[in-house]
Amino acid sequence: MKIVVIGGTGLIGSKLVNKLREHGHEAIAASPNSGVNTLTGEGLAEVLKGASVVVDVTNSPSWEDAAVLKFFETSTRNLLTFEAVAGVGHHIALSVVGTEQMSESGYLRAKIAQEKLIKESSIPYSIVHATQFFEFLKGLADISVVGGKVHLPHVLFQPMAADDVASALGRVAVGQPVNGIVEIGGPEQFRLDELVRRRLAALKDPREVVGDPNALYSGAKIGERTLVPGKNARLGETTFEVWLTQSAAQIPSAHPQPPGVAVVTKEKDSHKKAS
Ligand SMILES: NC(=O)c1ccc[n+]([C@@H]2O[C@H](COP(=O)([O-])OP(=O)(O)OC[C@H]3O[C@@H](n4cnc5c(N)ncnc54)[C@H](OP(=O)(O)O)[C@@H]3O)[C@@H](O)[C@H]2O)c1
Repeated sequence: MKIVVIGGTGLIGSKLVNKLREHGHEAIAASPNSGVNTLTGEGLAEVLKGASVVVDVTNSPSWEDAAVLKFFETSTRNLLTFEAVAGVGHHIALSVVGTEQMSESGYLRAKIAQEKLIKESSIPYSIVHATQFFEFLKGLADISVVGGKVHLPHVLFQPMAADDVASALGRVAVGQPVNGIVEIGGPEQFRLDELVRRRLAALKDPREVVGDPNALYSGAKIGERTLVPGKNARLGETTFEVWLTQSAAQIPSAHPQPPGVAVVTKEKDSHKKAS
C-alpha cells in the first residue's frame, strides 16, 4: 500500500515512515526538501499518484496567530484538493487532545480550522488527537515563561513518547477511516507543572517552574481535564522514566548545560511550538 506522509521529515513523520516501511508498506516522506510543498501545491500531484492513504503530520514554521492559521488552512485545503483528484481513500491528520476546548489559543484555533476542512471534505478521514509529546516538555516551558519563571497550571496531564504517537498513527493508517476522532495518550497521569519541573531538572535547566492556577496553556485558559484523553483513548506503552533514560542515552549533551542552551534534538526548535 502506498502511504504518503506529508511532513515525513519531522519528529513524528520520520518515525512513522520508518515504522510503515518495516511493515512492508511503500511509505513516502514528503516535505519541501523532497519537492513537496503543501502551501504552494508544488509536487503534490506527482507524490499522490497511486497513493491509498495520506498522513498529514506537517507543522507550521511560524506559530504567530495569523501565520499558523494561514499555514493549516492553506496547506489542508491544497492537500484535500489534490487528494480528491488522485483518488486517495483515507486522509489522516494529527491534532491535539482537547483542541476544541482551547480556541483562545491562536495555534489551536488553526488546528480547529484544519479539522473543520477535513470533516467537510469528501475524503474519508481519521483525525488522531494526541496528548503532548514528552519531546515537547522543554518547548512547553519555553513558551510559558513569565518574568523569567515558567508558569503552568497544576492540571492533569498525560503526555506520551513521539515513538508511541508514530506507532498509533501507523495502526490508523493501515486501518479503515473512522470519519471521526481517535484519541491517543500516554500510560500515566501527572500534573502539568510537576512534570515540566522534572523535565527541566533532568536537563539541568535552572528555570523555576511555578504552579499557577491562572497560567495559560499556549494562550488558552484550561481546566483540570482539558489535556487528558477520554476513557476510550489508545494508550502508549512508554513511561516517562523509560523515555527519560532512553533520551538521555541518545543525547550526550543532555548533561550539564549552561542556562538557556538548547539541547540538540528535535527539542531544538520546540520553543516555537504550542501543541
Ligand atoms: N508537540 C506536541 O506535543 C503535539 C501534540 C499533539 C499533536 N501535535 C501535532 O503533531 C504534528 C507534527 O508535529 P511534529 O513535532 O512532528 O512537527 P515537526 O517535527 O515540526 O515537523 C513538521 C514537518 O512539516 C513539514 N513542513 C513544514 N512546512 C511544510 C510545507 N509547506 N509543505 C510540506 N511539509 C511542510 C516539515 O518539513 P521540513 O523538515 O522540510 O521543514 C516537517 O517535515 C503537528 O501538526 C502538531 O500540531 C503535536
